[in-house]
Amino acid sequence: MSLRQMRSPTIQVIVARTDEELCAWGLHCFVETLQQRPDAVISLTTGRTTAGLYRTVREWHARGQTNLSPARFVSSEEYVGIGADDPISLFGWLRHEVLDPLGVSGYSAIRMSGNAADLGNEWRRFDATIEQMGGVDLVIQSIGANGHFGFNEPGVTRDAPSRVVTLAPSTVRSNAAYWPPDIQVPTRGLTMGVDATLRARHILLLAAGATKAEAIARAVQGPIDEDAPCSLLRLAPRLTIIADEAAAARLDGAGNWHT
Ligand code: GLP
Repeated sequence: MSLRQMRSPTIQVIVARTDEELCAWGLHCFVETLQQRPDAVISLTTGRTTAGLYRTVREWHARGQTNLSPARFVSSEEYVGIGADDPISLFGWLRHEVLDPLGVSGYSAIRMSGNAADLGNEWRRFDATIEQMGGVDLVIQSIGANGHFGFNEPGVTRDAPSRVVTLAPSTVRSNAAYWPPDIQVPTRGLTMGVDATLRARHILLLAAGATKAEAIARAVQGPIDEDAPCSLLRLAPRLTIIADEAAAARLDGAGNWHT
């Protein structure tokens, strides 16, 4: 596998030449986490980029029959007003794409319910549960074109807890493309916050496609800045970014890249 990498003691940036390479490196992080700790806490996100990784994880699981029952999974985002069985539930999407195929009981996942009566209590309970479990071992995220992760939109602070957020119009538009045209995508969401994310032992950030190139350049080489939420991830104990060539196109590699 030929690839370009940039390394610092806590940050690794891998540029994958193909979707398969990107997913293979993502799978490597997933498996490494479980090898180190079979009861690892792994946080999942939604979207097209992670869908490819989840397909690779499903194929790996089908080959090896690995027992994942000790592992614990976190569903890191949900739309406000949407119940778990709603067709556009993000938790429902994760159940279908990841949890059910891996033989994990979806309802054991740590999550925020979008139709909870008291949303403030819901995200506080979510953060407290994660803390009681000793934090997250691996957070899987993908970058939005505006630099967001989860629903942590530009302007978010680095100590932001999990919470209810109003989605940026560009996020609503890009999320609308996941569903049939007659479905109205909610404009508010619940998201795992920056604080809980940064406390994770390892963050895996995926990026695919030219629409992510500017956001990845800011995340990797720009200042650590609340207007570029993924740049905050550089404050984590360990960050692995896997980008395809198109998403990495604006990275200035001078002196930093290994082949
Ligand atoms: C949604 C998710 C984000 C993700 C984004 C990117 O907005 N809430 O966590 O960063 O999608 O999605 P895609 O991989 O489809 O570009």
